[in-house]
Amino acid sequence: MLRTIGVSSLDELIGKTIPASIRDKEGLSLPGPISEHQYLMELKQIAARNKVFKSYIGQGYYDTIVPSVILRCLFENPGWYTQYTPYQAEIAQGRLESLLNFQTMVADLTALPLANASLLDEGTAAAEAMTMFFNLKNKDHDHVTTPKFFVDSNIFSQTKDILLTRSLPLGIQLVEGDYRKATLDSSYFGAIVQYPASDGAVEDYRQFIQQVHASNAYVVMATDLLALTLLTPPGELGADVAVGSSQRLGVPMGFGGPHAAFFAARDEFKRSIPGRIIGVSIDAQGNRALRMALQTREQHIKREKATSNICTAQALLANMSAMYAVYHGGAGLTNIAKRTSLLARTLSNELSELGYNNLNASYFDTVKIKVSDPAAIRRLAETRGMNFRYYDEACIGITLDETTTQQDVLNILGVFHEAAGSNLVTATFEVEDDTLDNIPSSLTRVSEFLTHPVFNTHHSESEMMRYMKSLENKDLSLNTSMISLGSCTMKLNAATELIPVSWPEFGGLHPFAPADQWQGYRQIITELERALSEITGFAATSLQPNSGAQGEYAGLLTIRAYHAAHKEAHRDVMLIPISAHGTNPASAVMAGMKVVVVKSDDEGHIDVEDLKAKAAQFKDKLAGLMVTYPSTHGVFEESIKDICKAIHDNGGLVYMDGANMNAQVGLTSPGFIGADVCHLNLHKTFAIPHGGGGPGMGPICVNEKLKPYLPGHVSQGNASHNGAGTKVHAVSAAPYGSASILLISYAYIRLLGAEGLTRSTQYAILNANYMKARLEKYYKILYSGSNGTCAHEFIVDLRPFKTSAGIEAEDVAKRLMDYGFHAPTLSFPVPGTIMIEPTESEDKGELDRFCDALISIHDEIVQIEEGKADKVDNALKNAPHTQHVVCADEWNHPYSRTQAAFPLAYLKDNNSGPASGVSIIRMAIET
Ligand SMILES: Cc1ncc(COP(=O)(O)O)c(C=O)c1O
Repeated sequence: MLRTIGVSSLDELIGKTIPASIRDKEGLSLPGPISEHQYLMELKQIAARNKVFKSYIGQGYYDTIVPSVILRCLFENPGWYTQYTPYQAEIAQGRLESLLNFQTMVADLTALPLANASLLDEGTAAAEAMTMFFNLKNKDHDHVTTPKFFVDSNIFSQTKDILLTRSLPLGIQLVEGDYRKATLDSSYFGAIVQYPASDGAVEDYRQFIQQVHASNAYVVMATDLLALTLLTPPGELGADVAVGSSQRLGVPMGFGGPHAAFFAARDEFKRSIPGRIIGVSIDAQGNRALRMALQTREQHIKREKATSNICTAQALLANMSAMYAVYHGGAGLTNIAKRTSLLARTLSNELSELGYNNLNASYFDTVKIKVSDPAAIRRLAETRGMNFRYYDEACIGITLDETTTQQDVLNILGVFHEAAGSNLVTATFEVEDDTLDNIPSSLTRVSEFLTHPVFNTHHSESEMMRYMKSLENKDLSLNTSMISLGSCTMKLNAATELIPVSWPEFGGLHPFAPADQWQGYRQIITELERALSEITGFAATSLQPNSGAQGEYAGLLTIRAYHAAHKEAHRDVMLIPISAHGTNPASAVMAGMKVVVVKSDDEGHIDVEDLKAKAAQFKDKLAGLMVTYPSTHGVFEESIKDICKAIHDNGGLVYMDGANMNAQVGLTSPGFIGADVCHLNLHKTFAIPHGGGGPGMGPICVNEKLKPYLPGHVSQGNASHNGAGTKVHAVSAAPYGSASILLISYAYIRLLGAEGLTRSTQYAILNANYMKARLEKYYKILYSGSNGTCAHEFIVDLRPFKTSAGIEAEDVAKRLMDYGFHAPTLSFPVPGTIMIEPTESEDKGELDRFCDALISIHDEIVQIEEGKADKVDNALKNAPHTQHVVCADEWNHPYSRTQAAFPLAYLKDNNSGPASGVSIIRMAIET
């Protein structure tokens, strides 16, 4: 490989690629590698330090049973968890169908016609609803006419906290109160209530909703999908939007995540709904086909005009919840809800016999009681391995769930009997549904839901297993071939890294469990924070943001807080290069900043003169710069130190987008280069799988200056966990975001050790340069460093073929499917190009297969250029060739079926590609 590149050693290649001025020769101060076997043995011991209590805490997190067939065939199956976001619809019909099922389930249960394909968590989903309403009512942020948002006191405290975080930069005024006493005037744009409420009360919000609508404002209801099988749904009560978490539909609590949040809305919001929406379309043969109807690449088009920065969401978990609904069906879900509610009613009755009256007149799964000595109850409960919710006002909340048994109810009652000095515990369990008088008839659901055949067919394990397999077969995942998506780092997600995520010691913990119960997690969190700080060259890390874009937002808030603390709150100008990822400007606007775009030069590098001029021009208002490094063009720009200095000299701070960290680890670092804060995409560089569009984790790492402003969390007294004492509000619903998948990145770092991490970076750069060297004889490669090398990715320019052969980048992307490959990143950051990032995980054989495929496609283009192939009816324009097309009785093309389906020999041998395993649908609509 080195010979092909034209260098004599790996060191020479790295020396030519990474400018000496930013090369950190010190190496990483991290432990050495350990074997997979040894790691799993050690992790078992760490796991044992977590105590898995029965959790009755509620507040948006509930124990649930993951059906084994879903656990094995989906959650633990690389065919599902290694998929990329379904931008290439032809090789994503399986997960598109599953996500459509998720949307249908949410739309049915909430009785609102439109739902998206998941958001990050309930708190941020509520914030998305708030900002959507705000933007609709206040088109001009400089002239806000309706600034107020009403927050009912009885919503989850973590949701309140996130609303506060999101409201401050935008100038939204939150008004908290009791919805029963609220009077809204024309200065309000919206309101939020929770259903069932945070304390479990089931309230009738009809009148309130009418009042809000009368003042021309909107209502979002945070709600619970399981409860909605029994309760009148938000859409029928008049709500405009419903949000919540689908966690209790078959996704482990995982100490906070990952889980799929949902967002459903009335039709009038269809152009403003955040996140991805899957829609039904038709393919080239007129058959039903699915695609993303509203692409999240919306940030790339709207940039600073985007209303949300959601990119990575929670696709894998949305698929799990959707499959849970497919497996149980509407009747099954209702049964689960009724059982839970009946047990809650029994608990309520028995507790009142003991003198504890349920403060919730109507409820679904939660009993709230007043006690004289909560500390004594708590001691007894914890001795028996149970967690309740403890309120400040000497009240206790007990929330039951799918896993609760009659024996569990007896155990709960045992605590209160013992407190009263008795050992005798009895209870009368009713089994008739009509005894569910804890839900008033005015709020009892009568409308049907989940009537679609998909929710009424696959109820046996055999059927379910085959349904999931049939969908998996339609998609291309890393278990088919390499996915060389530039900027997305689709590296190996090793089995050993993933196995512990399913262990109950990690999955079974509630995020608000007492600290002494999560000592195992604490060890992992502390070690991971330390490792990430070391890798980025920074002083501290927050693991709270649960996507890259959330990390951007959190990082920008630290910059904002820093300026405010230094009496420079007016610093609100953020410089962003034109080549930046679309989430950068979107996040900046959400953080209350004004975006000023910096030009690129002809080489695609940041135009340093333009940057310096703008930094000087805005020096009194400069908040900072957002910069991706190596650049989105795959180049280590030599000027980066200069760039950082220019920003600092003008009073700003530097935010580094760490999406390309795979080219830095162990060789240089954002801190070494001179940045102040960065985010990491753990779902790129640190081996968390993409899950077909999430989960992800986007921790931020900061220098000493910004350490006091890392996000805090209500469950931990709001103080930043780094002990800085400044009250900083949360950016995610749970204190450590999607905590359970932190295990994957932890394992990745432990297994590789300092040397392995550095080697990975070197191999990533080697692999990219090897492919570049093979391909540059055929294709024009855009942008290289001063020594002609690329970083960990490179851009192939396909624009010349438009004039020479009528071939566009999209044709090449689709033809690659015939060769058994997922297309590289298409038209980002440069339209008409593909960006290839092979990662360190691919061996030479796979790299060569991919190069051979692209070279063969080049030959096909030459045939068109030379007039040997038809300009319109050719293998590229007609790609991908599906089984239906290749096996059809008629074949009227000037090239053969063999050329269409088996253009290279390996396709016949290895059984991969569209004509065998992956059935591909060519769609009529361009994707
Ligand atoms: C350069 C860059 N920045 C930010 C992001 C956003 O990350 P996420 O999708 O995790 O929100 C991406 C994702 O593709 C990216 O490539």
